[in-house]
Amino acid sequence: MSEAKLEAWLDETRSFAPSPEFARQANAQPSIYAEASADPVAWWRLQADRLTWTTSPTQTLEWDLPFAKWFSDGTLNASYNCVDRHVEAGRGDKVAYHWVGDAEGETRTITYAQLQKLVAQAANALSELGVKTGDRVAVYMPMIPEAVVTMLAIVRLGAVHSVVFAGFSADALSSRILDSDCQFVVTADGAYRRGSASPLKPAVDEALESCPNVKAVLVVKRTNGDVNWVEGRDHWWHETVERQNDVHTCESFPAEHTMFIMYTSGTTAKPKGIFHTTGGYLTQCATTYNYVFDIKPESDVCWTAADIGWITGHSYIVYGPLINGVTQVMYEGLPDSGGKDRWWKIIEQNKVSILYTAPTTIRTLMKWGDQFPKDHDLTSLRLLGTVGEPINPEAWMWYREHIGSNRCPIVDTWWQTETGAIMVSPLPGITATKPGAAMRPLPGIGVDVVDNNGDSVGNGEGGYLVITHPWPSMTRGIYGDPERFKETYWSRFPGKYFAGDGAKRDEDGDLWLLGRIDDVMNISGHRLSTTEVEHALVGHPAVAEAAVVGASDETTGQAIVAFVTLKMSADDAGKDYGPVIEELRLHVAKVISPIAKPRQIILTPDLPKTRSGKIMRRLLRDVAENRQLGDVTTLTDPTVVNMIAGLMETNASGED
Ligand code: WTA
Repeated sequence: MSEAKLEAWLDETRSFAPSPEFARQANAQPSIYAEASADPVAWWRLQADRLTWTTSPTQTLEWDLPFAKWFSDGTLNASYNCVDRHVEAGRGDKVAYHWVGDAEGETRTITYAQLQKLVAQAANALSELGVKTGDRVAVYMPMIPEAVVTMLAIVRLGAVHSVVFAGFSADALSSRILDSDCQFVVTADGAYRRGSASPLKPAVDEALESCPNVKAVLVVKRTNGDVNWVEGRDHWWHETVERQNDVHTCESFPAEHTMFIMYTSGTTAKPKGIFHTTGGYLTQCATTYNYVFDIKPESDVCWTAADIGWITGHSYIVYGPLINGVTQVMYEGLPDSGGKDRWWKIIEQNKVSILYTAPTTIRTLMKWGDQFPKDHDLTSLRLLGTVGEPINPEAWMWYREHIGSNRCPIVDTWWQTETGAIMVSPLPGITATKPGAAMRPLPGIGVDVVDNNGDSVGNGEGGYLVITHPWPSMTRGIYGDPERFKETYWSRFPGKYFAGDGAKRDEDGDLWLLGRIDDVMNISGHRLSTTEVEHALVGHPAVAEAAVVGASDETTGQAIVAFVTLKMSADDAGKDYGPVIEELRLHVAKVISPIAKPRQIILTPDLPKTRSGKIMRRLLRDVAENRQLGDVTTLTDPTVVNMIAGLMETNASGED
């Protein structure tokens, strides 16, 4: 559909009604909303029975705003719920993961029974290395089965995993290890990306130079590269794990036992350690996976194309799917490892029925062209999902037409690291969908759109997205910083959780998410804060001052544009600044991650500031997006922005 046609079509707010066939067989039936809203807390208690409890909870919710406890007198083991109980129920031969390596033809199939043994061995090995209940273990691994096994083994012991995306730098890793005082690290020697091995262990070695409390590092041999080895500290997985007993009897832990920490960018330079506990988190992962993806464990093959280094990987590659006992595809490589049709080959070969990914990937696949999916049999697909950022209607329509043959429902799922599981999404078979809208809060979830005063906006109006009552998988806080938790999420609108996103309610009352309204950027679905990147830039000896904004970008949603003032000396006149700009981009990649590398760095002699000295990011965003400049009356020197706008044209640089 052309853009103009699509716009005209959208103006009529047309929607796609669910097919009657799909609706008949859907896991969720329309009565679910009324059932849940009659008594949401009681409804969640019923959902908790999806788990196998050692002690069934009699308490449901204890709410001491903003601190919630769910199912607090219940006890359970997360790993048992994901793995053992399926084997005990006679489903051990069912495939848990069809793992697909970066290189074509490299695959591993792991059944639930095999997964149970692998997890038992890993749990025994971690115990031998000294991991105990409550200890924090950092996981810095590529997308290999051992990553999932490690996570399950850690929670099996009642320890706490802190998975750090393997694309993060040594600095980012060490600050996360230090913040939650991890004493153990599990990693790999390297990873494969588009056929070439890239080392991971050197980043761990570098990070650990500043982490003296780390006692042991467990290393999976994934590539054949040379590795630096610290005797006594480093242990090969194949030497330590594979010789262990493949039986491990697990203990049960209270529902509110901390299960994991996941760092995410907030509005300051320091990422927040969002932590989740066991019973409530697992209940909502299990429930949402069942209803939103409408899974049929007997026949579905589910593929969440995300990384375990993000919350989507935690909730919808590991916990939600495993609790539901489904078969999944787990893929190590990039969308174009081995060719631009790699994804479609994977779907065809594995008969994937449910695909869940980020809009930025959909836009990339769309840009590569229709011929790639067209050449493959995608008829196994029956449901498509998106997550991580607002999806533009063009990409939504392309996904529907070219991947879903105009037949598969699309679920646009809104949620956050903090919410733990999906909060707003259509329910397939019930909700008519609109391209670009996340539609409705899920049953048992209360969401509102409010204005500056915290009052609900009417239909057809925009405002701030808030969550109005506690939900089972809500974060229990920021690790070690309860004050920051209160202040960040619960102070803007008293009594309500402030998500940091803008949203609109359309004329029908359906929700459209509009992106972050704070200083958090969303680059290809990855959260990064403007201050984090500014900090990295200012940490470079040549930089005097930096301001960073997220400018809209056709493929990545947002892209980083940095305005930098250099420390100048008299003999700098006439110097070629190209190499400086490149060095600054690499510096940010090194300090944070290649995903944080600015698309553009604009060198400027000054930055626009208010009279109170605050940098006017709003104006810089206007400049970065070539928009008419907003109100400049509060600036100390309004000419600065015009000068920068001029520089944008002459000194645009660093695109790749
Ligand atoms: C954004 C990812 C629009 C949003 C699961 C949120 C979305 C942030 C959607 C959380 C969606 C996520 N539509 N925006 N369907 N899903 N977001 O913590 O800005 O990595 O606040 O969790 O992503 O990112 P996070």
